[in-house]
Amino acid sequence: MIHSLLDLLACPYDNHYPLTLEVKELKGEMVIETGDLICPECQHHFPIQHGIPNIMPDELVKGKGDREIDDRLKEMEERDIDSSGYDLRYTSLKYKAKYKTLLDELNPEQEDIILDLGAGTGVLTASYINKCKCVVAVDFSFQSLMKLKGKVKRDSVHLIHADASFLPLRKGIFDKVVSNDLLEHIPSDKLRRAVIKQIYDMLRKGGELTLSAYHLNFSKKIKGLLKIGDVRGREGYHSDGKIYYYNFTRKEMEKLLGELFEVIDVKGLQHELPVIHLIMGEVFPYFDYLIAMFPFSNIFASEILLHCVKR
Ligand SMILES: C[S@@+](CC[C@H](N)C(=O)[O-])C[C@H]1O[C@@H](n2cnc3c(N)ncnc32)[C@H](O)[C@@H]1O
Ligand SMILES: [Zn+2]
Repeated sequence: MIHSLLDLLACPYDNHYPLTLEVKELKGEMVIETGDLICPECQHHFPIQHGIPNIMPDELVKGKGDREIDDRLKEMEERDIDSSGYDLRYTSLKYKAKYKTLLDELNPEQEDIILDLGAGTGVLTASYINKCKCVVAVDFSFQSLMKLKGKVKRDSVHLIHADASFLPLRKGIFDKVVSNDLLEHIPSDKLRRAVIKQIYDMLRKGGELTLSAYHLNFSKKIKGLLKIGDVRGREGYHSDGKIYYYNFTRKEMEKLLGELFEVIDVKGLQHELPVIHLIMGEVFPYFDYLIAMFPFSNIFASEILLHCVKR
């Protein structure tokens, strides 16, 4: 943990700031490898291990409970296991077009403090960290964060092992929040709203959110009716039942985010156009990038991106 992260952290139980730092092992002058963060208000202790503060809610540390808890625990385990192979799947040309659209919308600027929620192994994070002042990358998969740590220079990104609905951060300090493919894996409407509220709270007034998530397109509706395919219909579990997902409609997403934010742009991503895919082959991702600019493309989009501003 880089010492300057203390300026951004707050207790997730009572918002107390600053937390007290007890250092056990230091690397260089400013990097805390092992230690504890303590809230002077409620006395909660949060360990720092391998340089990453672990600020998970008690319910996820203690283990089994209701579906909201069990689904998240299952996913945490699966993401840890999958962290070594994750990047190989997401660096193909197909995903490059999607990441380019996301980056265009995020538009990182030199003075920006950015929160990357559900950053995972940092496929997206690594592509913009040099374009902004600092990034706080949050994920509940510790192994994914370790992978991200290996990719970046220590002083450019802060890593936090935390749950997206329970953020240990000070309110109103972020210029931008980016979240790629996190919200669809939050296992209930109540929790999804909690995550969006957290994002809202952490942003400064006028701050921007760029968020992408699974979209219920035509193809997924058909697959749902025929009961075929890994990601289909409204909601379910992929990766052999280990990862919960929810497919949003455009209207639903606009309503959900529109309750707190002003939605300034909506774009489809990763369009599923089977015949055109075949004809265009390797060139398709470029077409995908272009097609995202037309509103009608949403019918085919397997993901949807929303760009919002905090009023
Ligand atoms: C599909 S991956 C996307 C990773 C990254 N944003 C990217 O662009 O490659 C979803 C990530 O969200 C994380 N995640 C899912 N639910 C979470 C939660 N409740 N709190 C924090 N992270 C979560 C997973 O561990 C995983 O790393
Ligand atoms: Zn506290």
